[in-house]
Order: sequence, then C-alpha cells, then structure tokens
Amino acid sequence: MEAIAGNEVPSCHGGLENLDEEHDYRIDDIDGEVPANLRGTFFRNGPGRQRIGGEKYGHWFDGDGMLCAFTFDNGQVHFRNRYVRTPKYVEETAAQKVLYRGFGTQIPGGFAKNFLKMPANPANTNSIYHGGHLLALNEGGKPWKLDPASLDTVGEFTYDGGLERGDVFSAHGKIHPRSGDYVNFGAGISGFGWKGPKPCVNIFRINPQGKLYRRAQVPLETFPFCHDFALTDHYALFFIGSIVFGNMAHVMLGTRTISDQVTFDASIPMQVIVVDLETLSEVKRFDGAPGSIIHFGNAYEHGDEIIVDGMFQDNFEANDTLSDVFNPAGRFGGGSYRRYVLNMRTGAMSDSLVCETESEFPTFNTAYGGRYNDVTYTACSVANGANSFFNGIQRITHDGEARLLTLPPGLYGSEPLFAPAVDAKGEDDGYVLEVAYDGFKHRSELQIYDARNMDAIATLRLRHHVPHQFHGFFTDEVFSAP
Ligand SMILES: [Fe+2]
Repeated sequence: MEAIAGNEVPSCHGGLENLDEEHDYRIDDIDGEVPANLRGTFFRNGPGRQRIGGEKYGHWFDGDGMLCAFTFDNGQVHFRNRYVRTPKYVEETAAQKVLYRGFGTQIPGGFAKNFLKMPANPANTNSIYHGGHLLALNEGGKPWKLDPASLDTVGEFTYDGGLERGDVFSAHGKIHPRSGDYVNFGAGISGFGWKGPKPCVNIFRINPQGKLYRRAQVPLETFPFCHDFALTDHYALFFIGSIVFGNMAHVMLGTRTISDQVTFDASIPMQVIVVDLETLSEVKRFDGAPGSIIHFGNAYEHGDEIIVDGMFQDNFEANDTLSDVFNPAGRFGGGSYRRYVLNMRTGAMSDSLVCETESEFPTFNTAYGGRYNDVTYTACSVANGANSFFNGIQRITHDGEARLLTLPPGLYGSEPLFAPAVDAKGEDDGYVLEVAYDGFKHRSELQIYDARNMDAIATLRLRHHVPHQFHGFFTDEVFSAP
C-alpha cells in the first residue's frame, strides 16, 4: 500500500492491510524521551492479516494472530512481531489460500467444503503472561503458548491437561490481585438433554505458579455470546445479554457462518450471573433491561453492593462492518460507558451513564483489579473529520471527570494500556501506551502518555505499520535486552 500524499485524510482501512513480514529491531525514530522508569514488556495481539493469496477473510476476527512485543529497558525500546504458528497460519501461508473456516469465513467451494467443519482458532485476540506462560488467546479455542523472549510458538497449551478436549478459553481472563490467580472461563457443554446440548460456562482458576488447579461448570439456559466478564475480590460476574446465537444447524451444515447467525434480540433482557470465586458456583442472578456488554472495566464490592463498569451496546450493527472490513462505508464504533450497581441483599440492579463519549476497550491499573479504583482509560470514537475507527483516548475518573485526547485526522488508535512506573507511588503513577496507525505514512507508532494527565511524553515511529489490534498486556519483566 502506497503512502497518501496531499491534503486527503486517509481512512482507517490501510491499517487493516497485512503485515506479512516479521521484524526485530531497536526503535530509533523517537520524538521525546522514553522514561527511564518505564521498564518491562508490552505485548499486543491482533489479526496481522486479513488477506491470503487473492482472498479476504470473512470477518475481522478471522485474521491470524500476530503478537507484538515492545520491550522497555534503560530508556530504549525494542520491537518484535511474530505470527502464532497455528495449523491455520502454517497451512494457509504455504497454500496461499483459505483452507479453514472461521467465525465469519467460509472455505471457498460451497457448503460441501464447510459441512461439519469447526472454525479454526486464529489465536488473535489477547495475550497474557502469568505463571511463566506467555499465551495468545482466542475464545474459540485453547491458548497458544509462545516463548516470551523470541515470540516463537511453543504450541497449543492445555495446562498439562487441565484444559480438556473440547474446552475453549476466553481472551479475557483476569489476574485476581489478592491470590495472584489467573481466573478465566469458556463457553461449554455440560451434557445432552432432550433439547440437545446443554450450555454452560466453564470457569478455571490457575495459581501463580501456572497450574490449573480448580474448574467448575455453571449451567446456563442458552449458549451465551459472552466475550468478557467482570471480577471482584469474591465474585466473577457474567452478563448474558441480548446478542444471541441463532440456529447453529445451518453452521453445522456448512451453509452459514457463526457470524451470520449472531443477532441482537431486543426482546431478550440482560441477565447477570454472580459466581463465588471459592466455590465456583452461582450465588445470585440479576435481571436487567435488554442490551449487551462486550468489554468490562473494573468491578468492586462495597457493602452489599457490587459495582461493575462496562461498555454497553444496544445493537450489534458493528458486525456488518467487522465482516466486511475493507468496505469504505463501514464504521468501527464503540459502546457507551455505563456503571451497574447490583445489590446482593435485595436483588436490585440499576445502571447509569458514566460518560457520553463513544468508548470501547476500557483498561485500568490492574493492580487495582477487583477493588475500588479511580481511573479508567478507553479508546474513543470522536468527530475529528475521520471517525471511522477509534481516534481518541479518554482518561476518566470514577466520578466521570474526563480528559479526552483526540488524535489528528488520519491517525487511528487502539486499546490504551496502562503501564505502571517502576517506582509507582499511586494508582495512576505510570504511562498510557497507545499504538496508533498513521494513515498518511502507512506506518504505526507507539505513543507514550503520562497516565496522570495524558500529557504526551514520547512518540516512537515504527518502520512499518501494525494492523489494528485488539488487546494487550504489560508485564514488568524484561525477557530480552534491547
Ligand atoms: Fe475483547
């Protein structure tokens, strides 16, 4: 793709083109100064390609996972990217054509080619470093383990068989600060009844040494479209919303994709299932208004109440854009930032708007996960003349005091991630890391902001673009010297 000249503002779509090459270099094109007290590794994951040979994948979610690692040490930053060597990636790269089904991708050649084929796991949604394991995650399959220094693929990962055949593992597991456990879940089947398979959520606890030591099933009435969950000190909360799976027989027959069968049904109210983290069993259920939450901010307990922040959606029109990512008319939008208050004694549930700005990908200082925290960072869509994608970052306090930072038209952002300073004294003592795509240059840059006030500190320009990604993880460990 050629860089765009003149005054025309480029769209976000160049940022969806493939990055087929794998790089490994110290970043030397820097404005400002990289803080000396920013030390560690910033992993990001997302689909590195949307095309193979002459074919496009049928959904943003079907691009192959490509991990990036920015390593910060002594004021220097090293960049590395590697594709996860899943069977899909390896075989499709060799064949230069679509060989696997995806969430919204069919194998070319009609339904017979897709009959009874399960979607491949592209390992493209998130990453986690916990218990000595660096994992690439996608909710449609098991984790894939990578070497944290080289990003070389080790292989599909089961925690020594703790994840069983048929288990899937979400991309949004969370580290429980008090125990250090990694808590995650996956949609599953608890058995078969006269109506067919019985849906459930499998919940997993992994100790700080990286051993999966406890798992349990929570039965559900329907198969959930449940991408993320909320975690407090004592509870895991699952919001089962109005985005639902339709008839999956068409998917099995090969005539339609899962994406085709996912709809927003405004007649279905949101239900919140509260699971005790010790017993891993349901302790309470709340009924709310119709709607869905794709991503959660923090959650905490206060007396009888549980307070949960989430990005609310009242439709799933975004799926039309996600399944046709290069369509110039498509718009990648966000949700509205709402706060839910669940009273565990009375069973009452209420919610309120925290912030008007269209927001997604909420992050916060994860050391405060599950307890009260003040500051959340979100990716925003704002009117800057080129708002077909995330183009702003917001720092917002618990009381709703917001500082919105708008990127120049033609630059497109991503999930802003908080990285604590080495000697951090408070919650927001650290940096916000943002990978932005510059459509003018068809290159990406890493922006570093002061998390206390969103003042810009440094911009590090890469030698290439990084396709728009989903989620990242920061660890204070350095695996390879820059
Ligand atoms: Fe996500």
